Amino acid sequence: MLALGVLISGRGSNLQAVIDAIASGELDAEIRVVLSNRADAAGLERAEKAGIPTAVVDHKGYRDRQSFDAALIERLQASGVEWVLLAGFMRIVTPLFLQAFPNRVVNIHPSLLPAFPGVDAQAQALAHGVRITGCTVHLVNEGVDAGPILAQAAVAVALDDTPDSLAARILVEEHRLLVETLQAIAENRLIVETGDDGRTRARMAQGPDKQ
Ligand code: GRF
Repeated sequence: MLALGVLISGRGSNLQAVIDAIASGELDAEIRVVLSNRADAAGLERAEKAGIPTAVVDHKGYRDRQSFDAALIERLQASGVEWVLLAGFMRIVTPLFLQAFPNRVVNIHPSLLPAFPGVDAQAQALAHGVRITGCTVHLVNEGVDAGPILAQAAVAVALDDTPDSLAARILVEEHRLLVETLQAIAENRLIVETGDDGRTRARMAQGPDKQ
């Protein structure tokens, strides 16, 4: 059972996908707490509806990133969180945060990384004219959307796509990929290795049904 803490800043559709997958038995996890840096994040209501404890930790109330992160860590640890999911959390976490949850912070990003990190990934993909984009679930490191890749899914770009229409199709894949990846972690199938080149990579061992 994965003891999850989820950090959000907005809509919370990925959070909802995780809530639903836990409810249906597809994902062996428990969300111990949902934290938002914004009081108006719609995801907070989704969590409350599911009976999950929530709290608003507003970054504006802290003098720097590190003290904001210290407040997040304190709440996550007090709730018994072992793995942290960044699900549309629009703040960059500091090394202090990563040290508190080493190789246990997961992010979902709407592009095939390393292409199009940062904000507005779908608009970036359209601006570049790529034919294929998608989404990536990855471990968080000190770079922006730069940590070891756990899983990716491809989405074809349509000629008449707008950032919104493309985002909507990517989101369907995000929800599926995120749940699958978290379940693989819950099954202890995540392998993290640092290669001779000094790069840390992650992979998933095959599940019992696929061996
Ligand atoms: C998603 O596209 C996710 O990939 C990105 O932020 C968006 C969050 O959407 N990091 P939601 O709040 O989960 O609906």
